[in-house]
Amino acid sequence: MLDVLAGHAARVRAADPLAGGQDRLPKPGLGEQLVEVPGAVGLASMDRSGLDTLNATWGPLVVHRLHARVGGPDPEAALGALLDAWTAAPRREPGPLAVLWPSRDTAAVRALAVRGFAPTVTVAARPRRPPAGQATDPRVRPATADDLDGIARLYEALVAYDAQFGWVTPRPSTPARIREHLTGTLPRSWAWVAEHDGTVTGVVIVDPPPRSRWIASMVTRMPAAYLGVMYADPAVRGRGVGAALAAAAHARLDAWGVATTLLHHAVANPLSGPFWARQGYRPVHTQWVRQGRPSAR
Ligand SMILES: CC(C)(COP(=O)(O)OP(=O)(O)OC[C@H]1O[C@@H](n2cnc3c(N)ncnc32)[C@H](O)[C@@H]1OP(=O)(O)O)[C@@H](O)C(=O)NCCC(=O)NCCS
Repeated sequence: MLDVLAGHAARVRAADPLAGGQDRLPKPGLGEQLVEVPGAVGLASMDRSGLDTLNATWGPLVVHRLHARVGGPDPEAALGALLDAWTAAPRREPGPLAVLWPSRDTAAVRALAVRGFAPTVTVAARPRRPPAGQATDPRVRPATADDLDGIARLYEALVAYDAQFGWVTPRPSTPARIREHLTGTLPRSWAWVAEHDGTVTGVVIVDPPPRSRWIASMVTRMPAAYLGVMYADPAVRGRGVGAALAAAAHARLDAWGVATTLLHHAVANPLSGPFWARQGYRPVHTQWVRQGRPSAR
């Protein structure tokens, strides 16, 4: 197993030095199983979200995950054998199967594609740039507590837009959870809004490094921050509002010394991928998913 871990870490490091957390497996939790085949080892786990939580909006209620590490001369064959062993195991609860894989380590991913896994979500990263000191856009200003209703409206619209791509699901509890979440986090976040004629038409929210530790190990350059919300109302899209919001956030991130800013976006979202690439982000990890039955949302 140590050989496999060392081989995996070396191959990923050569493919992408920014991809973090690849030199070990997470510690097995209660009831979690190691899956081992020649040349590969994985930790099988299950995430369950309560129906009334905000997590249940951002993903399915049950997700079966495989944390996979693959060494040896034929990564595709080894990952394929590991996936076959994992997918053959009986499961008491239905739910999609998910594998997070370093995006630039492409040597093994055919094993996922030919077994019905599809790329669904990208974890993208923007390395720090020297602070530019550019002028701020007059349409954009820091968010205040008075913006909560306007931001909540845009956050709900973001959820509805993202839900089209099959991972995010609006729940009956979503509006209330969003308001609670914003009430708790806005004062501790770096957040800006765009305003037109007194109406909030765009928002960006960043969790500063102390509140982004849960995702920081996905990269090797820290401190890391997490950009959790970006939305521009359809009425103002394509006129630079998103870029102005991103510029305000990046100016703060770069001045603070944040080494890497991370975000998630759906691979199938036709707006976010090109937009984030223009803003200096690129894929670090890709989540490959084999969907369960539609009822398992
Ligand atoms: C992604 C989003 C925030 C971009 O906001 P926006 O205000 O439309 O973006 P901008 O006008 O600032 O565009 C920035 C650049 O992308 C280009 N662009 C934006 N939308 C485009 C489109 N539909 N087609 C082609 N180019 C587009 C702009 O021309 C601009 O290019 P430039 O830098 O060369 O001038 C917005 O589309 C949105 O809210 N989408 C739905 C929610 C979403 O996907 N959020 C991100 C989830 S991770």
